[in-house]
Amino acid sequence: MGLATTISGFLCQIRLLLFFSICLAVVGWASLYLRESQRYTPKYKVKVDNFWGSAPTGKKAEEKASPSFSDQATEEEPNQKVCPVLSPNLKGVVPLSFDPSLTLEAVRRKNPAVIDGRYHPDQCKAQQRVAILIPHRNREKHLLYLLDNLHPLLQRQQLDYGIYVIHQAGDGKFNRAKLLNVGYLEALKEENWDCFILHDVDLVPENDFNTYLCDTEPKHLVVGRNATGYKLRYSGYFGGVTAMTRKQFAQANGYSNNYWGWGGEDDDLRLRVRYGGMTVVRPPAEIARYTMIFHTRDSGNEVNNKRMKLLKEVSKVWKTDGLNSCSYKLESVYHDPLYINVTVDIGRPQY
Ligand SMILES: *[C@@H]1O[C@H](CO)[C@@H](O)[C@H](O)[C@H]1NC(C)=O
Repeated sequence: MGLATTISGFLCQIRLLLFFSICLAVVGWASLYLRESQRYTPKYKVKVDNFWGSAPTGKKAEEKASPSFSDQATEEEPNQKVCPVLSPNLKGVVPLSFDPSLTLEAVRRKNPAVIDGRYHPDQCKAQQRVAILIPHRNREKHLLYLLDNLHPLLQRQQLDYGIYVIHQAGDGKFNRAKLLNVGYLEALKEENWDCFILHDVDLVPENDFNTYLCDTEPKHLVVGRNATGYKLRYSGYFGGVTAMTRKQFAQANGYSNNYWGWGGEDDDLRLRVRYGGMTVVRPPAEIARYTMIFHTRDSGNEVNNKRMKLLKEVSKVWKTDGLNSCSYKLESVYHDPLYINVTVDIGRPQY
């Protein structure tokens, strides 16, 4: 009798113990799962302009207008599935590296799938063909850091992309806006790009959920940067890195060609976007974060004192000053393994 009670009591305790450990395992698993999903699932829905879906008439018209080589991917793999808007390869925040001893050769070795400045995923058909335009002069180190951090991110995003570096020849005043107009026009000679990312050389994205895809409205990707405590510089700011479709950029008539030196051209573009009947959208602040590589103001890129005066005239001049009036002398185009370099003489200020 004594033994039987002891045994049954013992069994009861074991059962209780088993029950508790199962509970603990379930709770542990659930919290782990929740934490993972919080890390990998953004709390917002990404909208993109759909280039392959629904509208068959628009697509047909586009195909007719595009150069014959632009739909190569479609011809190779006619039944390939379209990549998801949010790639399964995203990691969220990835530590950036700014190694002073980095070389272009090392970055090339790290990105063997990038050929002649371009990449496309082979598991699926990318959502959009994206050209990244980077105006440049005398910032080789920044360019190297940007390429080193941007290439892996864009590949994780499963983009069909090309990086264009638009290099201003000579030592006249720098004109970021006009270089971007040139980049747009020259890039379209190679490929019928769907989407353009207008990208400063000194801004490096911190979170790969900040997708380099175009939206149904012009998209501003830099809500915050480390230099401003990750706050928007001012309400309405539309500079640093922006994404516009081929059509949106054309509808704004691109940038003004008349901003020489630093500042103003981004506010001008924001006004053009408005006059063109568009609005600006932004990803959430916790995702649209950038690190700005420190530098002092370059010579040849002094603050443009005429910018306030120019900004007052946008409504009158935007239709005649822009993409449709951008004149320049192309000096060279060459394909580095990691980018397409366009060197251009854009002239000097008219005043
Ligand atoms: C932002 O981070 C970069 C890279 O670490 C650094 O060079 C720069 O000084 C930082 N800027 C500020 C204002 O903290």
